[in-house]
Amino acid sequence: MNYKEALQHPVFKTITESADKLQLEVYVIGGFVRDFILKKRNAKDIDIVAIGSGIALAKEVANKLPNKPKVQVFKTFGTAMLRYEDLEIEFVGARKESYSEDSRNPVVENGSLQEDQNRRDFTINALALSINSNNFGELLDPFNGIKDLESEIIKTPLNPDVTYSDDPLRMLRAIRFAAQLNFTIEEESLNAITRNADRIDIITKERIVTELNKILESPKPSVGFLLLEKTGLLEFILPELTALKGVEEVEGQRHKDNFYHTLEVVDNISEHTNNLWLRWAALLHDIGKAPTKKFHKKIGWTFHGHEFEGSKMVYRLFKRLKMPLNDKMKFVQKMVLMSSRPIVLAQDIVTDSAVRRLVFDAGDYVDDLMTLCEADITTKNPKKFKKYHNNFKIVREKIVEVEERDHVRNFQPPISGEEIMETFQLKPSREIGVIKEFIKEAILDGDIPNEYEAAYKLMLDKGKKLGLEVRK
Ligand code: CTP
Repeated sequence: MNYKEALQHPVFKTITESADKLQLEVYVIGGFVRDFILKKRNAKDIDIVAIGSGIALAKEVANKLPNKPKVQVFKTFGTAMLRYEDLEIEFVGARKESYSEDSRNPVVENGSLQEDQNRRDFTINALALSINSNNFGELLDPFNGIKDLESEIIKTPLNPDVTYSDDPLRMLRAIRFAAQLNFTIEEESLNAITRNADRIDIITKERIVTELNKILESPKPSVGFLLLEKTGLLEFILPELTALKGVEEVEGQRHKDNFYHTLEVVDNISEHTNNLWLRWAALLHDIGKAPTKKFHKKIGWTFHGHEFEGSKMVYRLFKRLKMPLNDKMKFVQKMVLMSSRPIVLAQDIVTDSAVRRLVFDAGDYVDDLMTLCEADITTKNPKKFKKYHNNFKIVREKIVEVEERDHVRNFQPPISGEEIMETFQLKPSREIGVIKEFIKEAILDGDIPNEYEAAYKLMLDKGKKLGLEVRK
C-alpha cells in the first residue's frame, strides 16, 4: 500500500514544513491511519503527534495556513486543536503515561514515538505515518497493527490488563470497534475485560453513553450487546437488560428469553432505520417485563402492565446515565408505552376504529411505532410470522386510509370548549369536558365523521341529555 496517498491533502505539506522549521519529528496517528487502510477515506479527524511541543507546532501550522485559523489550546492536556476546511486537526506532544488506580487522569511525561504508541488502546489504533520530509509516508507499526487489521482482530499493544485498567473506557471502545467493524476481540483481551469490568465505574456516564450510542448505530448492534453481556459490563451499565435474561419454567410452561428476543428486535429494526432513538426504543421496549413477570396457574406467564412500567423505567435509566431528559427521551417512553398496541390489533381482524385510536394515540410517531412492532415479530413459527406481517400491512394501509378521511393524527376537536360554553350558556364546568370527550369518542369509534356539522349536532344531542338548555 502506498501510504503517501493518505497524505495528499495540502495541509500535510504545511505540517511537514512547520515541523522542519521547529526541528520536530511529526506523525499522523490513530483513527485517521486506521480508516485510510480500511478504505474509509472520509476521516475528518486528524491526530498529529510531535516529538516535542504539539502546541508550538499547531501555532506554527496555523500561521502558515492561508486563512490563519484559530488555535484552541488545552494547556492541562498539552494539546492544541485547529479547524481547517472540513478537517479537525489535533496536535499533541508524544507522551508516556502512567495512571493511578482511582482515576482516568494520567500522570504525563514527554516521551518518544514508541512510548506514545505503547500507551494507545489497540494495535490497529497505534499505527503512525511519518510526515517528516526525510521519510514522508513511512509507516511505523511496532505492534503489527496492519496484520491485525487484515485478520480483523482487536488487541491491545501492551498486556491487556494494563491497557484496560489504565483507562477502563477502552473496554467499551474494544466492544464498540468490534461492533462497528465486525472484528473479533482477541481472547486474552476479552478475558481482561471480564476481569476489569467493575472498573467501568470510574468512567463518566457521558462517555459510556457515547460508546453505547455507537454500538447501537452499528450495522448489527447485537454483536456489541452480546459482548457487553459476556464480559459482565452490561450488568454495570444496563442492569435492566440483564434482568431480562433467562427462561423460567413452572408446571411445564415457559416464557421466552426476553434478553435474546430484545437483541433480535434491535437487529431487525436496524435493518430498517438509522434513527438512534428508535433503536433505543427497541432496546428498551421490554424492560418492564422483569419487574412485572408473574406466573398464574390458569393462564401461565404474564407481564401485565409491562409497557407502562417500562416507560417509567426509561426515565430513570436516562436519568441515571445522564442522558438528556428531552423530547428524545419522551419519544422512547412513548414507543415503549405503546409497543404492544399494534400487535394486539394484528392478532385480530383489523377494524377502522382500532386503527383510528392507534393513530390518535401515537400521533406523528405512528410510523415509527409500526416499524418497532414489525421488528418485534421474532416468532420462529412461519405461519404466525406471515400472519402478523400481513396484518401489519393491512394496519399500515388502514392508517393511510383513516388519515386521509378522518385526520385524527394531532387531533384538533372540531367543536371548541368556547363554542360549547356559548351554546349552552355555561361557565367553565365539568359538562364541557364531558361533551368534548363524547364527541371525540364518537369520532374515534367512527360513529360520526371528524367534521363540524356532525359534531355540532352531536353536541346538541348530548347537551340535551345532560339537561342543558340551548341559548336562544
Ligand atoms: N485513544 C486511546 N484510548 C482512548 C481513546 C483514544 O488510546 N480511550 C487513542 C487511539 O490511538 C485512537 C486515538 O487516541 O485512535 C484517537 O481517539 P478517538 O478520536 O477517540 O478515536 P478514533 O480511533 O479516531 O476513532 P473514532 O473516531 O471512531 O472514535
